[in-house]
Amino acid sequence: MGTLDQLTPPPLLIVPSVLPADFARLGEACAALEEAGVDRIQFDVMDGRFVPNLTFGPDIIAAVRPHTGVPFEAHLMIEQPDHLLERFVNAGCSTVIVHAEACVHLHRTLGAIRDLGASPAVALNPHTPIDLVAHVLDLVDMVLVMTVNPGFGGQKYIATMEPKVAAVRELIGSSGRNVHLEVDGGIGAGTIGGAARAGANVFISGSALFAHPGGLKAGVEELRDAAAKGWADRG
Ligand code: DX5
Repeated sequence: MGTLDQLTPPPLLIVPSVLPADFARLGEACAALEEAGVDRIQFDVMDGRFVPNLTFGPDIIAAVRPHTGVPFEAHLMIEQPDHLLERFVNAGCSTVIVHAEACVHLHRTLGAIRDLGASPAVALNPHTPIDLVAHVLDLVDMVLVMTVNPGFGGQKYIATMEPKVAAVRELIGSSGRNVHLEVDGGIGAGTIGGAARAGANVFISGSALFAHPGGLKAGVEELRDAAAKGWADRG
């Protein structure tokens, strides 16, 4: 990523989580998401230890890969992800997100993702201070601020994370680096504006998008419009 152009706002990316999708028809779900105009697709990888839930691994992602041309990101909610990084990259994930809380040697892990040819990103749970990413901003293309406690879809957006999003946006601004700021958890038409106003530019939506009464395309458009309005309100 190049240096940040302070005048040009970052792109606003709508990235669905496939957690609410029918796992028996994941390929079709991803093709439908591409049709709906999403920018990337996120796979929530959970190991039952770092978070109290278990989902899927690299083989499932590899099986889905041929069904869509949309870039994949793997959100690794797993303890000590180092030994699995290459498997997720080889499965077709162009972005790999690791949790600062799960990596003993975060600096080394992020460098390893870059060396594998993927885009490194770091995630912070709601309680985790942003200081944990202050010394690795030069290694990442994105910081993910969780707006729920990770492990499940359909949870309530934690609005008190908005000052934290604003603080990360400021940290990115002062670094002069072109780093994206992603939010994940409880993102829908009623919450995306607040997250955008706070400084997020990449938005993960699962249950709100899949449950949209107008369907996926209408849902993506509504989210994109609401995010743009929120970003415009930043002035
Ligand atoms: C939490 C998951 C969820 C998911 C999005 O561990 O990461 O945040 O991606 O779920 P919704 O949009 O249903 O909150």
